[in-house]
Amino acid sequence: MTEDRTPAVSDNPEGLAAEEEIKGRKNGLYSEVSDELAASMKSGWADTELRDLRPIAQAPFTAGRRAALSARFPGERLVVPAGRLRVRSNDTDYAFRAASEYVHLTGDQSEDAVLVGEPAGDGHAFHLYLRPRSDRENGEFWLDGYGELWVGRRHSLAEAEVLYGLPCRDVRKAAEELAAGTGTTRIVRGHDAELEEALGEALDADRDEEFKVFLSGLRLVKDAWEIGELRAACTATVNGFTDVVRELDRAVATSERWIEGTFWRRARVEGNDVGYGSIAAAGPHATTLHWVRNDGDVRPGELLLLDAGVETTNLYTADVTRTLPINGRFDALQRKIYDAVYDAQEAGIAAVRPGGRFRDFHDAAQRVLAERLLAWGLIDPAVYDLEKVLELGLQRRWTLHGTGHMLGLDVHDCAHARREAYVDAELVPGMVLTVEPGLYFQQDDLTVPEEYRGIGVRIEDDILVTAEGNENLSAGLPRRADEVESWMAGLTG
Ligand code: GLY
Ligand code: MN
Ligand code: MN
Repeated sequence: MTEDRTPAVSDNPEGLAAEEEIKGRKNGLYSEVSDELAASMKSGWADTELRDLRPIAQAPFTAGRRAALSARFPGERLVVPAGRLRVRSNDTDYAFRAASEYVHLTGDQSEDAVLVGEPAGDGHAFHLYLRPRSDRENGEFWLDGYGELWVGRRHSLAEAEVLYGLPCRDVRKAAEELAAGTGTTRIVRGHDAELEEALGEALDADRDEEFKVFLSGLRLVKDAWEIGELRAACTATVNGFTDVVRELDRAVATSERWIEGTFWRRARVEGNDVGYGSIAAAGPHATTLHWVRNDGDVRPGELLLLDAGVETTNLYTADVTRTLPINGRFDALQRKIYDAVYDAQEAGIAAVRPGGRFRDFHDAAQRVLAERLLAWGLIDPAVYDLEKVLELGLQRRWTLHGTGHMLGLDVHDCAHARREAYVDAELVPGMVLTVEPGLYFQQDDLTVPEEYRGIGVRIEDDILVTAEGNENLSAGLPRRADEVESWMAGLTG
């Protein structure tokens, strides 16, 4: 570290490292940097500071979320890291995706960043630690592989203060400054090992677990801005499914990868990415719940189970599944199974309403599926009645998973919230959840007739709890078998 540097165009007055150190660091094959070149690179750059910025649209909402956090942990220092880049191989990193807790409380997505709340008065004074613009004086901006010349312009700290409505400091001082602080501290673990180590003794595992649980529960009810994001995620997802149907013939000619890639293109153009690994499962792959290898054949006459969701640029994701006949028409058995899942989903969606319990839609959907399994003789009605099947959970050999989950910044949002606030709670307006029953007959399941084996059906939609009942945010995609067929026919003509 060196202190005696004059700031150039950047807002990096402290500097990161001495010029000689930077010059020697990441200069690839061309390691010789003459003094003349180094001098040349220091000057001749325009002032690009953005001076007419406005706060992000989400700013009033993030401030409200921080206020709720502050009220819950008075007198304690709160640390919420965004996370760090992770190496994929050698000198290439995975695409960065900021931690949901950090995004929820700030609206920012910068790698390495940290939100800190210092106890102040009755509440907290929050600030952000961010990486400032790259230093031009010491060559960081062009000689360091993470300099702005390589990775793109960042916001200056002054710009970020306007955008996020928070004082901003240089993140390279975060560990030192936080380690020097005193008092009870909580951190969201798992995102920034360096900070956790710097805080060391100040941290306590139970306290941090309580912190995580609270932040997860804070996301249970979505505000108006978040609901807008989830609507946008669903709209883009509908577009992605439409793209896939239009390109099914090319998938038949290649593999499931064409489907994955087609959806992903839409996700990258209209959003940030997919919110989770797309499941493009053709034929018997549909019976593997998390089939993300997506390297199989796509055969006319079989079904395609596509479970995919676009994540918006603000990182809210949809989570939608459609099971489509690859040749455009369900055969009789496919339709029978599809209709059972459809009826289960209808019963599930009907159970989503304020005052209802989270478990209700699962129970309603499972009841329909168990009835069908009995009616088809896959569970022997001479041995079990419906109530006994449900009591013993026998239908679960073929229904396999829960019927839904909260949705938001994470596909399985609020997963760490208290049971009493989520799984055992009543639904309230503003919650957004999936309803996604399925039936899956494994290829090697000797307990079902041969013609069932290798068929998997799931239908999944994203449901907003409203004051009156619910709204299906992904209703832009048809669900009923005949509607699916006519929609596909219209697209493939
Ligand atoms: N796509 C994961 C899920 O449906 O929960
Ligand atoms: Mn889901
Ligand atoms: Mn899904």
